[in-house]
Amino acid sequence: MNSSIGNWKHTVLYLTLIISLLYFIESLISHKLHINHNKIHLKRSPNLPLRFRDDGTFKILQVADMHFGMGIITRCRDVLDSEFEYCSDLNTTRFLRRMIEAERPDLIAFTGDNIFGSSTTDAAESLLEAIGPAIEYGIPWAAILGNHDQESTLNREELMTFLSLMDFSVSQINPLVEDDSDQTKGGAMRLIDGFGNYRLRVYGAPGSILANSTVFDLFFFDSGDREIVQGKRTYGWIKESQLRWLQDTSKQGHNQRILGNPPALAFFHIPILEVRDLWYTPFIGQFQEGVACSIVQSGVLQTFVSMGNLKAAFMGHDHVNDFCGNLKGIWFCYGGGFGYHAYGRPNWHRRARVIEAKLGKGRDTWTGIQLIKTWKRLDDQDLSKIDEQVLWETSDSFLK
Ligand SMILES: *[C@@H]1O[C@H](CO)[C@@H](O)[C@H](O)[C@H]1NC(C)=O
Ligand SMILES: *[C@@H]1O[C@H](CO)[C@@H](O)[C@H](O)[C@H]1NC(C)=O
Repeated sequence: MNSSIGNWKHTVLYLTLIISLLYFIESLISHKLHINHNKIHLKRSPNLPLRFRDDGTFKILQVADMHFGMGIITRCRDVLDSEFEYCSDLNTTRFLRRMIEAERPDLIAFTGDNIFGSSTTDAAESLLEAIGPAIEYGIPWAAILGNHDQESTLNREELMTFLSLMDFSVSQINPLVEDDSDQTKGGAMRLIDGFGNYRLRVYGAPGSILANSTVFDLFFFDSGDREIVQGKRTYGWIKESQLRWLQDTSKQGHNQRILGNPPALAFFHIPILEVRDLWYTPFIGQFQEGVACSIVQSGVLQTFVSMGNLKAAFMGHDHVNDFCGNLKGIWFCYGGGFGYHAYGRPNWHRRARVIEAKLGKGRDTWTGIQLIKTWKRLDDQDLSKIDEQVLWETSDSFLK
């Protein structure tokens, strides 16, 4: 009798112990278990659609080739010996914050090699840290991939998925079959080469006659990483399926009666072959290294020209080229290397490109775009502004 009461007491004691242990463990790891719990992080979305400001401007900051690794432990490349000791990825972060403070962009375009895959053990962590300042400031941002982003723990599809889910991101994995550029509605993705092909439309100024119309069309492309063509190793390129999508969509969704097709810009990482020809033209900025691109000529320039409204394309990849040159009426501009863990040149400052569009002033309302300008800033003491130039100006007299 006594021993059975003893056993019973022991059982209760053990059960209590086990239950409290379970509670304790659960409280430790519950944030990792509760997928459908309110603790899950919901994406913070920027105010959409993107639109011009009340003052009739829209400004884009292009950030090319951050080559982010693992933050403070990732050293700088190609800086002066005297700078090396106190230089890490944190300098890239600091430069991004300075650029945001100085320019207050409406959109940031990260044009690939955002992270340097082989210098990180966790691609997602690196992206969160690299893009961090854009999120801190709540600025809408769009990213595409370079040839180094996937060299770590995520493949290109996973990277674009992750990028599209980060706070304040307007990046998309690929366009939908019925593309009206609103992926929140769901629907099937169009079969297209690569990951990170999408269109962003920018609406007119609030309260203006074009407040609900696209006045600026931005196209982002995945230019791939590396490929083997007829036994030769070469870089990726923008494929026919991507160009077909561009042709199909650039015609859609415009109020053509008022506006015609609004000015458009393109963003991609790897330059096209024809950029090499710019050496023989009066380019603006510096042409200091060979254009590293695919040997395949897929008709990108021809497609851009045939659109009629594509004014400029912005690329990265070759860090110590930062020029703009004109091919058949279209500007091709390098961003210039941004990141400190990327190759560069000692004594040649890391830099970033800014693109600003200005609306025309009608009799009593903002109209369509009148002017598109670009300039760069150096990561020097004064964030020196250099190479300012006009990329496009309307000849439409009713906008003036
Ligand atoms: C990197 O950042 C540190 C700390 O802010 C600064 O002292 C150093 O000059 C920076 N290096 C370069 C090359 O900008
Ligand atoms: C734009 O849409 C808003 C909301 O639907 C409407 O109030 C406004 O009048 C529209 N503006 C123009 C110029 O069509």
